[in-house]
Amino acid sequence: MRLDKFFSNTATLSRSECAKACRAGLVSVDGTVIKDPSFQVDPEKNAIAYKGERINYKKYIYIMLNKPEGYVCSNDEPGGSIVFELIDQKLLKLGLFVCGRLDKDTTGLVIITNDGTSAHNALSPKRHVSKEYEFALADPISEADLDTLRGGATLADGTETLPCEIKMTGEKEGIIILHEGKYHQIKRMFASVGNKIVRLARTKFGGISLDPSLPQGKWRYLTEQEGTVFAENNKKTY
Ligand code: URA
Repeated sequence: MRLDKFFSNTATLSRSECAKACRAGLVSVDGTVIKDPSFQVDPEKNAIAYKGERINYKKYIYIMLNKPEGYVCSNDEPGGSIVFELIDQKLLKLGLFVCGRLDKDTTGLVIITNDGTSAHNALSPKRHVSKEYEFALADPISEADLDTLRGGATLADGTETLPCEIKMTGEKEGIIILHEGKYHQIKRMFASVGNKIVRLARTKFGGISLDPSLPQGKWRYLTEQEGTVFAENNKKTY
């Protein structure tokens, strides 16, 4: 791989920035300053550094974002705010996908990656990747209604949902675990028993838990271990 491609793939430097950095003697490979941006490198074997700092090559990046209200999980929202505005803009050229969209007013865990297979698998209805949410309702809910939802609900348009787990933590608050991801699913499920979601936050997705120390609107890379769990989890078929 060319040196300038390595820097652009790791979102460190654009190709023209790499050419400038090489001319300025800021780039080294295995300790030797390289002035030619077309120099061939093997990211697995060579130690490549910019300004003396080793740049690690990762085939894929995985990001955990704590989504605040008011942001949409899509590539464009005319005149509105999108989740990609909340991450390092340099990463956008890596071709990122949001795994499992949240509604504009839903908060919490969003995984963003350039690993298209993992993103696709995370969303595939065949894989039943589980997602956990904390919710608050407008009104108290009966055990009978909870059991209806747990067993699989029929939504207003006739759509059937799969069985799910629901645990109430208060009169109007609880935790729900889904193994599928239909459009506005939780809101539509509770609407089907005459209730209303007034707050919804995703706390887990595909084996990854939202980092409690990550404030809303902030992001971080998944750790190596979390990245492996996420990729592996999404390969399974339940
Ligand atoms: N279900 C919903 O209704 N909304 C979400 O954002 C996620 C699940």
